[in-house]
Amino acid sequence: MSRIIAVSSGKGGVGKTTLVSNLSAALASYGKSVIALDANLANSNLALHLGMHLYPKTLHDVLDGNANLRDVIYEHKAGFKVIPADISFRKMRKVKSHEFVDIFYKLLDSHDFIIIDSPAGLGPDSVAAIEAADEVITITNPELPAITDALKLTMVADKHSTHNLGVVVNRIKNESHEVPLDHIEKMLNLPIIGKIPEDREVRKSIALKEPLTHYNPKSPAAQHIKAIAAALIGEEYKPKTHWSLKLFGWLSK
Ligand SMILES: Nc1ncnc2c1ncn2[C@@H]1O[C@H](COP(=O)(O)OP(=O)(O)OP(=O)(O)O)[C@@H](O)[C@H]1O
Ligand SMILES: [Mg+2]
Repeated sequence: MSRIIAVSSGKGGVGKTTLVSNLSAALASYGKSVIALDANLANSNLALHLGMHLYPKTLHDVLDGNANLRDVIYEHKAGFKVIPADISFRKMRKVKSHEFVDIFYKLLDSHDFIIIDSPAGLGPDSVAAIEAADEVITITNPELPAITDALKLTMVADKHSTHNLGVVVNRIKNESHEVPLDHIEKMLNLPIIGKIPEDREVRKSIALKEPLTHYNPKSPAAQHIKAIAAALIGEEYKPKTHWSLKLFGWLSK
């Protein structure tokens, strides 16, 4: 039985697409079969993160009735499959949750994980993705506006009976003005299932169009994403804290 997990955020730009591409690669490195699907139809960029933006057919073509689902499932060299969306403005369209459900139904049982890159916020596309998924991972930065937006999102998941797996806090710099992790946990009333540090290798990997967990698996962010993947499949992976992060944390106290 596939696990259908939406990666969602209240605020935009907090790291959903980064988590989707890297979590998919990390789960694949544990031998799991994974499909990453770009449900961010208005601002799709999963294909850009993975160097697949010039592929001829996308999820938009399936939703428009111009392609079969099997025609838009592409293999990434990091060992997982991708259903990209079209990056052009011309193809922007809204989607209903039953359309996602139809797609997931066709993919069901052929893969261990379907990981969904959701749109940010509480718009209809975002709600449709959360409604159609079985589980949701909420991602936020350790800043108040992102956390308060995340809270609304967790309420939407509750409303649609989508199981909230927990929160991933991304771009942690250990600076004194950041909201502490135990406060985030209390505010959202959810466990923190991932702590991803600020890591310039993330930007490098996006420029190289490769998941960081594949391109530089030892980098701090990659290790913490591997830990999230391990926890999802009931294994343990302890990331090593890089000396620069320890030093930075100590200096900013
Ligand atoms: N851990 C990190 N360390 C450093 N930079 C990061 C990290 N995570 C993400 N970024 C940067 O933040 C940018 C935004 O990330 P990403 O595209 O994954 O966010 P998003 O939530 O998918 O955005 P959108 O809401 O627009 O879809 C990336 O291009 C990257 O430069
Ligand atoms: Mg994105």
